[in-house]
Amino acid sequence: EKAGYPHFMLKEIFEQPRSIADCMRGRLNVENNSIQLGGIEDVMDDLVNAKRIVIAACGTSWHSGLVGEYLFEYLAKTPVEVEYASEFRYRDPLVGEGDVLLVISQSGETADTIAALREAKKRGALVLGICNVVGSTISRETEAGVFTHAGPEIGVASTKAFTAQVVVLTMMALSLGKRKGVLSQDEMSKFIKELSKIPSKVEYILEHNDESIQKMAGLFTYAPNFLYLGRSYNFPVALEGALKLKEISYIHAEGYPAAEMKHGPIALIDEMMPVVVIAATDHTNEKMISNIEEVKARKGRIISIMNDENSDVMDLSEFHISIPTTNDCFSPLLTVIPLQLLSYYIAVNRGCNVDQPRNLAKSVTVE
Ligand code: M6R
Repeated sequence: EKAGYPHFMLKEIFEQPRSIADCMRGRLNVENNSIQLGGIEDVMDDLVNAKRIVIAACGTSWHSGLVGEYLFEYLAKTPVEVEYASEFRYRDPLVGEGDVLLVISQSGETADTIAALREAKKRGALVLGICNVVGSTISRETEAGVFTHAGPEIGVASTKAFTAQVVVLTMMALSLGKRKGVLSQDEMSKFIKELSKIPSKVEYILEHNDESIQKMAGLFTYAPNFLYLGRSYNFPVALEGALKLKEISYIHAEGYPAAEMKHGPIALIDEMMPVVVIAATDHTNEKMISNIEEVKARKGRIISIMNDENSDVMDLSEFHISIPTTNDCFSPLLTVIPLQLLSYYIAVNRGCNVDQPRNLAKSVTVE
């Protein structure tokens, strides 16, 4: 059932070209230049009229929600707030009629996320969901929603569910942007064409980088700490890379927006500190280069995830992973892949139980 892979996690990482394509199938239509999301068609007017969308989720699903915030604000000009479901739930939240709460959950059974959705529903908000498991509590209790269709995810560390969630959020933001008149037909067409190329770009990354990431993992297996830095769309990817490493390899790791580094974490950097920089967003390139220089000045060890042929970043990096270029707003779908592999190989080297890390369960059904 692991299809020849030693672990479910590796199988699920390698499944992503297909799971992403499955998630787009029948929804993203390049020929007609359209996006059809049947599950939310009936509430599209509510979304168009929504003053804001509140996203609530936990863990990796919360990270995809953060990517969603950037996507909805850029593509549909709808303000978004992203909340930890647990915090939202216990804060006497200011939501009610006219508000949209979007919950995101792979399992559809996460107790805090269920509690958040029930609370918002009680207060009169329209509650929508992005779920992987059909028939789960969240998919039943939300008023409308979109399934991710990523297939069963067995490894405790979420991989293909994350990319599918980001694809759904992207398609939602694009169709909302179109309905609101934020995006022209022409802009839509460019975005749709580029989005349809993501599965083959993910495939390219898996084919061309797997070996070099294995080698790199060998060099950093016993690092006690890791820092992950990203900007804009890739700030949530920095958080996700750090979470993946923590949960399966038990290495302490932190993700930060790159510019926040100088407000504290920079004090941690010395010649022992690997710093993973996600430098694959064009519009933040120059600023990212100065962040890399700040790390290097303190002898930190730079591992960069960068766009093809970014020689400035390459020259400054001890190790680099080149990925195909895409639109900045789709880049999390590509940049996260090498980070999943890096954490996987480090965990394997350390002899950790990758699919069932200590103290963790696939779905967290306690509040
Ligand atoms: O099933 P959910 O998406 O609601 O789960 C949320 C988190 O428990 C989950 O993403 C967790 O953080 C993963 N182990 C991360 O890899």
